[in-house]
Amino acid sequence: MTIQTDQYAVMGNPIAHSKSPRIHTLFAAQTGQNLEYRAILVEASGFAAAARAFQEAGGKGMNVTVPFKQDAWVFADLLSVRADRAGAVNTLIFEPGAVRGDNTDGPGLVRDLAINHGYRLAGRRILVLGAGGAARGVLQPLLAEQPAQLVIANRTASKALELALRFGDLGTVSGCGFAELVGRRFDLIINATAAGLNDTVPPLPEGVLAPDGWCYDLMYDSEPTAFVRWGREHGAVRSLDGLGMLVEQAAESFHLWRGVWPETKPVIAALRGG
Ligand code: ATR
Repeated sequence: MTIQTDQYAVMGNPIAHSKSPRIHTLFAAQTGQNLEYRAILVEASGFAAAARAFQEAGGKGMNVTVPFKQDAWVFADLLSVRADRAGAVNTLIFEPGAVRGDNTDGPGLVRDLAINHGYRLAGRRILVLGAGGAARGVLQPLLAEQPAQLVIANRTASKALELALRFGDLGTVSGCGFAELVGRRFDLIINATAAGLNDTVPPLPEGVLAPDGWCYDLMYDSEPTAFVRWGREHGAVRSLDGLGMLVEQAAESFHLWRGVWPETKPVIAALRGG
């Protein structure tokens, strides 16, 4: 009798540097789950065909990364509330008769802050920089923690305002441009812009980070990102990159697929170690 190894994958473009295969392989070894997980490069207009082909070949589930999270939202037959809100799916679960879509990015961020770093979000003043897909993916889970307020600031202010309207029923949310942050102060600043790709930081006024404030960059790199450096230079108590979130969102996906929670701390440590 042959034992079938369940197949999983992450699809994106580019995908070569994805850490997801390593993370899920470590999770599988740790929990004794019999699965294989690989990275698949998909051409720009080819997401639905590639996902269907993977499913038809017996794939059990997938992660989806840039630039296909909206395509995956369209592809799924059934959406979790948080994925529907985000307008983006990073996890597909192939079930007989239906493809379920979920978004574990926001829960991954909240778990990294709350569990790994002991940060309580309730009652905080939160500033989210950016109004693209990355920002949209984290807003609902952040608001579920009941911060005192959440401000979205973006280079294109109109996009921040639109996003604030879209999530306004979930808490005290407003949107603005960076210039309107003058004189305001936040306990937690989350960078969800793509500015770090150019090793830059959005233009933030002096004093925008509270004296005991924290910074969190959704991006990560082997070296401290521009925003992590900005946080350190501006007195952040902690200035964190997104590696913990990456591992936590993977753990959420793993749990959705396999029904077991892997331990994330040793995996975060292994990835930090190179
Ligand atoms: P993602 O899915 O990574 O969020 P996106 O949807 O293209 O990607 O959104 C990128 C975000 O980064 C946007 O908020 C963008 O601002 P605009 O809406 O004004 O384009 C922001 N961004 C990109 N480069 C930036 C820069 N150099 N400075 C500030 N914000 C930047």
